[in-house]
Amino acid sequence: MLSTTMAVVGAMLPTALPAWASYQHDQLVNSAEYKQTHGHWQVVNLPSELNSNAMHLALLPTGKVLMVAGSGNNQDNFNAFQAGKIDVLKTVVLDPVTLEAKLVPTPADLFCAGHATLAKGNLLVAGGTSGYELLDGKVTKPAGPMLIHNENPDDKPRVIKKGTKFTSKTGKVYVSVQEVTIQPAEKIDYGEGKVKITHSTQTVFVEAEQVDNSYLTKDLEQYEIEGLTGADAENIYGQGGPMTLEKQDFRGIDDSYEFNPWTEQYERVGSMQYARWYPTLAQLPPAQTGSSILAVSGLDNTGEIIQGLNEVYNPQTKTWSAGPEQYFPTYPALVLMGSGELFYSGSNAGYGPEDKGREPGIWDIPTNTFRKVPGLRQQNMLETSATVLLPPTKGQNEVQSQRVMVLGGGEIGDKDGSTSRTDIIDLTWPEPRFVPGPDLPAATRYPIVVNLPNDEVLVTGGSEKYRGRGNSDHHHARLYDPTTNSFKVVADEVVGRNYHSGGLLLPDGRVLVFGSDPLFADKDNTQPGTFEHRLEIFSPPYLFQGKRPSLDEGPTELKLGGKATFKSGDADRIQTARLIPPSSTTHVTNVEQRSIAMTVTHRQGAVELGIPENPNLLLPGWYMLFVADESGTPSAARWVQVS
Ligand code: CU
Repeated sequence: MLSTTMAVVGAMLPTALPAWASYQHDQLVNSAEYKQTHGHWQVVNLPSELNSNAMHLALLPTGKVLMVAGSGNNQDNFNAFQAGKIDVLKTVVLDPVTLEAKLVPTPADLFCAGHATLAKGNLLVAGGTSGYELLDGKVTKPAGPMLIHNENPDDKPRVIKKGTKFTSKTGKVYVSVQEVTIQPAEKIDYGEGKVKITHSTQTVFVEAEQVDNSYLTKDLEQYEIEGLTGADAENIYGQGGPMTLEKQDFRGIDDSYEFNPWTEQYERVGSMQYARWYPTLAQLPPAQTGSSILAVSGLDNTGEIIQGLNEVYNPQTKTWSAGPEQYFPTYPALVLMGSGELFYSGSNAGYGPEDKGREPGIWDIPTNTFRKVPGLRQQNMLETSATVLLPPTKGQNEVQSQRVMVLGGGEIGDKDGSTSRTDIIDLTWPEPRFVPGPDLPAATRYPIVVNLPNDEVLVTGGSEKYRGRGNSDHHHARLYDPTTNSFKVVADEVVGRNYHSGGLLLPDGRVLVFGSDPLFADKDNTQPGTFEHRLEIFSPPYLFQGKRPSLDEGPTELKLGGKATFKSGDADRIQTARLIPPSSTTHVTNVEQRSIAMTVTHRQGAVELGIPENPNLLLPGWYMLFVADESGTPSAARWVQVS
């Protein structure tokens, strides 16, 4: 394992300016006055051996940041991994304070997995990549999905290895590109000799054993599976086709892991029932489900979008079981509401038909009903948009306001259309509907949106065009203030960021932003783009206001509905207290971030904090506890556990 300290580079210019203008810009952004009003950005370069195309980021309850790349949207890495080279798959653990980082072993290609923070602090990571996209004209071997059937109820689960041959009646051989498991058939005994047998099925992707167009077929055919003889060959067979040279989409895996923040290792847990690429892992109501996690959507192991088959992870048994059926496009933004329902804002990462599952609504899990909500403008521009559960109204101590904001986004796929629209919905209304919010400074795909402990929201990064086409990355960060419902200008970020980027609040009140995966490197879209490895850390204006309040002594465990007293030399100054969970993000989607207000009662040299009682608002688990003074200057966080 590699451990090293990173070099820190001071503020640099987004674009080349003449030397004098550049000098003046440097003077300005580094002046104390400017930092006080606009905050400050710091570019961080990892040593090259620690660079990775990380597109999944999670804050761990240890205060460290987990950066997961897997093969990192790099076909060469994926091919090397397929050829047996495991260390091309990357995971980095970064200490954002000391800037020390190290590589940890990555057990599977977790590129484009889903993730969720579990109550105990582990990060559940599920899904990933078993095949890269091949565009039109790039497919050389006829290929397609194969459905394996098992008609034998008395069988055991059988592993069908990658590389298994499937032979058609005419003797054509196709080879599986991934390992799958086929379960025995299901037998239901109705008594009196009545038995119903339902054969089990499992998909696998196959390709012709050679480059030869005589392997193309339009027909659905039956296939013999290599290694099966006698009754087994009768009971277990493939049914495949058509086999084509059509464009192939990315294909998912069904692996899932828990990353343990204290051992800094992945632990293999039960496999999902379906392979998933681009799934969202959403938190379910803890009281009803014991802090279970719902895996939703994704492309399966043949590259087809999953048609509403969702599944639930039980953190106690570490296994998956069938969940409520509801169709969504990939990486849907699903936010747990105080009511225990899931709110779907419409934000997503694109895959799936244009006219299906794109409208926002409220999903009641126990009855599996989906109630659409009106008012959201430009619903054709929700791909690559961001969704955030807004912080409480500034300075107030009431419980979370349940207002969700949708920001920016663009048309589906590689199209020019994008929007500066923000709309807000208050989910406490009896008939919730979106109302217009203030416009972003420009049309923006991939906006990075991070809740801050002073009840403002950082909006940074993004590009006007699909994957930053035409050098369209933005450099105009803003702070959204939910109280005045307006944006205010802060320091410009140095590094532009589009696809595969994101940001997280750090325990010290700064914000770490990462990633960007432009299609092209130049304005004319002629040179291939490269993944952005520089990180950038924003110190909001509140970090330049003088002494920060602090909590000196207090409990590390908080009880829902209870009270907790913290000693503080700053007790008189403290006005607000917020609980913000460590969360995970990918594709500018973070369904976990929330900021929960506690009541503050002043005691002699201490504050007594009242903890909300609703576990759907304040999910059991780890939190960063921030207190702030009347000007909104927050403390650094204390880690607490809510139970
Ligand atoms: Cu992606």
